[in-house]
Amino acid sequence: MPDTDPGSHALRLGVNIDHVATIRNARGGTEPDPVRAALLALEAGADGITMHLREDRRHIRDADLTQVMAAIRAPLNLEMAATDEMVGIARHLRPHACCLVPERREEVTTEGGLDAAGHIVSLMPKIAALRDAGIRVSLFIDPDPRQLRAAVALGAPVVELHTGAYALEADASHELARLQGAASMARDLGLECHAGHGLTVDNVTPVAQLPGVRELNIGHALIAEAVFAGLGQAIRDMRLAMDRAIAA
Ligand code: PXP
Repeated sequence: MPDTDPGSHALRLGVNIDHVATIRNARGGTEPDPVRAALLALEAGADGITMHLREDRRHIRDADLTQVMAAIRAPLNLEMAATDEMVGIARHLRPHACCLVPERREEVTTEGGLDAAGHIVSLMPKIAALRDAGIRVSLFIDPDPRQLRAAVALGAPVVELHTGAYALEADASHELARLQGAASMARDLGLECHAGHGLTVDNVTPVAQLPGVRELNIGHALIAEAVFAGLGQAIRDMRLAMDRAIAA
């Protein structure tokens, strides 16, 4: 999602719809439909859609990606592991952006940032292959100067700072200071800076105010809150349908 996107907000919101697919997959079938979620997110003020195609396909599946890309006109940010399979899929689909994340099958969600500094040699050709396909590459990293310097060395134009540690801390001041330092350093290095993971309405304010941060990617808290924001209406609709059936 480049700065030049017409109509985009000063601080862009990428809505991660993975957990709509998680709920769908729990029952099988097609509901809730990630395409409908993507369209609703954009209508509600999201600037783009984020989807993580995990190697085990535990939530988003390949068909979800193609269907969402066909349905939306906004940028799609594909989160993925830096594997040959994923690079091949991305080069074939050509989403607006790819965010490279570390991935372990046993983890529940992405724990910690990508060790870009420790994997320069293996990441270099993958990032080049994505960039050659016209895809904007970002690296999901911890707020660590080594990782920021590695992003520059790797030619990645964007970093997404992992806010998971900040979100988990009861006293978040230390983690917030790390994020502030990393965001300033990203700006000085000419990197576009994004942030995400574990963000909620209650903890988003200091992250939204980080120097130069241009985009937040948020998923779990939105889907969790949507259950409560929407459950009452869903029950009222069912109550009405049942009452009408009885009255007929
Ligand atoms: N950004 C990245 C790179 C992620 O891996 C995730 C989780 O899939 C998020 C943002 C969103 O995190 P959350 O679901 O906790 O809001």
